[in-house]
Amino acid sequence: MSEIILEGRGVTRTFGDLRAVWEVDFQIRKGEILGFIGPNGAGKTTLLHMINNTRPPLTRGEIFFKGQRIDHLKPYQIAELGISRTFQIVKPFPGMTTLENVSIGALFGKDKIRNARQAREKTRSILAKVNLSQWENVPVENLNISEIKRLELARALAMDPELLLLDEVMAGLNPAEIELIMELIIELNREGRTIVVIEHVMKAIMGISQRIMVMHHGEKIAVGTPEEIRNDESVISAYLGERYAKMRRSNA
Ligand SMILES: Nc1ncnc2c1ncn2[C@@H]1O[C@H](COP(=O)(O)OP(=O)(O)OP(=O)(O)O)[C@@H](O)[C@H]1O
Ligand SMILES: [Mg+2]
Repeated sequence: MSEIILEGRGVTRTFGDLRAVWEVDFQIRKGEILGFIGPNGAGKTTLLHMINNTRPPLTRGEIFFKGQRIDHLKPYQIAELGISRTFQIVKPFPGMTTLENVSIGALFGKDKIRNARQAREKTRSILAKVNLSQWENVPVENLNISEIKRLELARALAMDPELLLLDEVMAGLNPAEIELIMELIIELNREGRTIVVIEHVMKAIMGISQRIMVMHHGEKIAVGTPEEIRNDESVISAYLGERYAKMRRSNA
């Protein structure tokens, strides 16, 4: 059996009466690319927030990273352990260049870079990797959406994560730009990083993930290979509505 790098047990987050994430058990295997899908409002981003503790903490449940309980730790402590993420709503530091934005990540990562020169060197190698070297000294306000998404990825990578959580890094990109990001994700995975990819671009996520986890209305409704997920009745009905699923069953 493959090693589990991150595990959640009964993870729950409510907002008033709303069950944003409800009693979700999940396991992420070391070395995999796990696709994480579900209709709008399913609870995907909320689940990511709970892993990094970047929002008010979970209502209930436990999260373990390599066997160590982390749900009570501070975001910077979680980053130091080796988990980093991108944000769906990207907020680069305005008034700073691409290089400066990414350097900040390098100062907070798990390999404990503590001086600006080292951070800059590391940052340059990451910018090269995500194809942003030519924008190194450009204020982030001047980047387009595709560059901003890669900047966000670079900021997460600067922390040198073992586990990388990506929240819609392909949203708003054209097919060629999506292709670039997909290749990058595969390369990062080959370097040994475990990667969770939240994405609505189905073709992309089905193409790069070994396994897919599906949420709907705050609950985990399926986990399996892309092939299994494509044929899963509960997934089809979550995306297309119960009526379509019934129609499909009666035509089968
Ligand atoms: N801070 C908050 N206060 C109240 N409700 C919230 C808050 N954050 C999220 N929600 C609600 O929790 C539910 C889950 O939201 P979440 O953003 O996790 O979904 P998602 O799966 O990431 O959706 P999308 O694909 O649209 O990004 C939604 O109904 C959302 O409106
Ligand atoms: Mg989201």
